[in-house]
Amino acid sequence: MRFFTATVLGLLVPSLAAASNLSSATQLAVPADFKPPQVFKNTNLVRNTNLEKGYVRETINVVVENIDKQSQSDYYIPFPVDVFDRVGGFEVRDKKSTDEGRFEVDITEPVSSSGTQYFVVHLAEPLAPKAQITLGISYSVLKSLTPRPAVIQQNEKQYLTYSFSAYVPSAYQTVTQKTKLKFPSTDVPDFTETSGLKTGADPERKGATYTYGPYETAKVAPGTEQPITVRYQFTNPVITASLLERDLEVSHWGGNLATEERYWVRNNASELANQFSRVEWTFASYQKAPTSAVREIAYPLLPGSVDPYFIDDIGNVSTSRYRPGNGKTAANLELKPRYPIFGGWNYSFKVGWNNDLSQFLRKVAGGDSYILRVPFLQGPKMNEGLQYERVVIRVILPEGAHNVRYETVEGANSNGLPGANQINASLSSFKTYMDTLGRTTLTLEVDSLTDEARNAELLVTYDHTLMDTLRKPLTIFGGLLTVFVATWFIGSIDTTIKKR
Ligand SMILES: *[C@@H]1O[C@H](CO)[C@@H](O)[C@H](O)[C@H]1NC(C)=O
Ligand SMILES: *[C@@H]1O[C@H](CO)[C@@H](O)[C@H](O)[C@H]1NC(C)=O
Ligand SMILES: *[C@@H]1O[C@H](CO)[C@@H](O)[C@H](O)[C@H]1NC(C)=O
Ligand SMILES: *[C@@H]1O[C@H](CO)[C@@H](O)[C@H](O)[C@H]1NC(C)=O
Ligand SMILES: *[C@@H]1O[C@H](CO)[C@@H](O)[C@H](O)[C@H]1NC(C)=O
Repeated sequence: MRFFTATVLGLLVPSLAAASNLSSATQLAVPADFKPPQVFKNTNLVRNTNLEKGYVRETINVVVENIDKQSQSDYYIPFPVDVFDRVGGFEVRDKKSTDEGRFEVDITEPVSSSGTQYFVVHLAEPLAPKAQITLGISYSVLKSLTPRPAVIQQNEKQYLTYSFSAYVPSAYQTVTQKTKLKFPSTDVPDFTETSGLKTGADPERKGATYTYGPYETAKVAPGTEQPITVRYQFTNPVITASLLERDLEVSHWGGNLATEERYWVRNNASELANQFSRVEWTFASYQKAPTSAVREIAYPLLPGSVDPYFIDDIGNVSTSRYRPGNGKTAANLELKPRYPIFGGWNYSFKVGWNNDLSQFLRKVAGGDSYILRVPFLQGPKMNEGLQYERVVIRVILPEGAHNVRYETVEGANSNGLPGANQINASLSSFKTYMDTLGRTTLTLEVDSLTDEARNAELLVTYDHTLMDTLRKPLTIFGGLLTVFVATWFIGSIDTTIKKR
């Protein structure tokens, strides 16, 4: 476990409680003509591309062999510079022992000569010459699907296109490889058919799964492209949050965890050819016909969530419904925007609710330390998925909280988050009424996430002493005392005009 530490000391010395950085994303410097050393060979590579959501999800299993004379531990994975920033939740594991967690990953600066940027995977143990390891690489690529036609009628089906290379981009020679595409349905009107890359039909089609390859590519130079474009039906919204701000406010006094989320959302679906027709919409809704517009946003909440609200730019949205869970079952917030959100339309709103803090906070026995365990991301849960260009999470801790550290919880599978070194973390203080030091606030910034991170958890530990607890009442008491003493003093001054 790696903790990112920074200490906000100065319990009584406010000037020391200033912000200090936990960690921020850094890029490895590389020369302008950088090429990864050719120390590995991919003996077999299988890429699974999932197109069932509004973003692309890839998992690659690759058998890697060390062809160098020395042990090697840095494996490079290239992306074109313009794609690199849209790669989300990137992680790599040893496929044979996934429960040992992800490998550490760094990112390089863009390499200007090749227009490439690399993820550098640091294997947990150097791979000996001639030895092999199977890497499981997974990530999402945001904003890579384009609606075609770009403009449709209100009740028409929607089609998306996706372009990629049949030869998987790699820094190393690849002996055999194939790509399996999973479409949302069998309605795939257009797809590239290759010729001369392999014997037999390419792609091979089976229901909603199309397979390009296997190809024998031992003699193909790494980086060679074989462009493929597919067009398939996706009559669903393509929801993109350009920004999500998520605040979690911890109150020891109130025993409360208050959550507020502010969304700036856009539907990246086909735009409407004509003006929106309410009559047609009502009819289609009545028939529950599929649509590329956002009709409703399903937002599950944890059991025990109370006082939910849903406010958009105009005000309180009363068309939403809240079904509180009972006891152990999840609660559900059904958000109905004022109007359906069609392709190209924006919508911004905020939602919030409260929870009993004891569900999330634990005091470490015999100390002044606390452990807060909260969802990293919550957000809507919908079949078509949701992509976040940028997420800013603020954990607002009680006044005086110090020695703040955080980590994300890792399981045997991907939690949808990038490595810790791609999350910017910083501490600051947030002042509200009657605060003397301001509340210690941990801010985490992540780019390119998807709803896959919905199950990720965040652990925040901090110290908070009795003095910290009493600071606010003492401040208030001190304030009252001052007023009282002043009043008493003024009152006791003899202001009567005495006769001399
Ligand atoms: C924190 O990081 C920012 C840039 O991300 C930098 O400007 C600032 O000086 C850093 N602060 C400290 C205390 O290191
Ligand atoms: C989707 O919408 C965003 C705005 O949030 C825009 O920047 C982006 O280019 C759009 N993506 C596509 C594929 O149309
Ligand atoms: C907002 O709407 C909800 C649902 O109709 C209602 O229960 C609540 O009282 C409203 N809140 C305000 C502040 O108007
Ligand atoms: C929608 O939001 C994006 C930023 O997310 C902005 O660039 C665009 O101008 C907005 N479009 C409209 C129609 O307001
Ligand atoms: C993190 O901080 C660095 C340096 O300040 C900045 O370049 C980068 O865009 C930030 N990343 C995120 C996810 O906010």
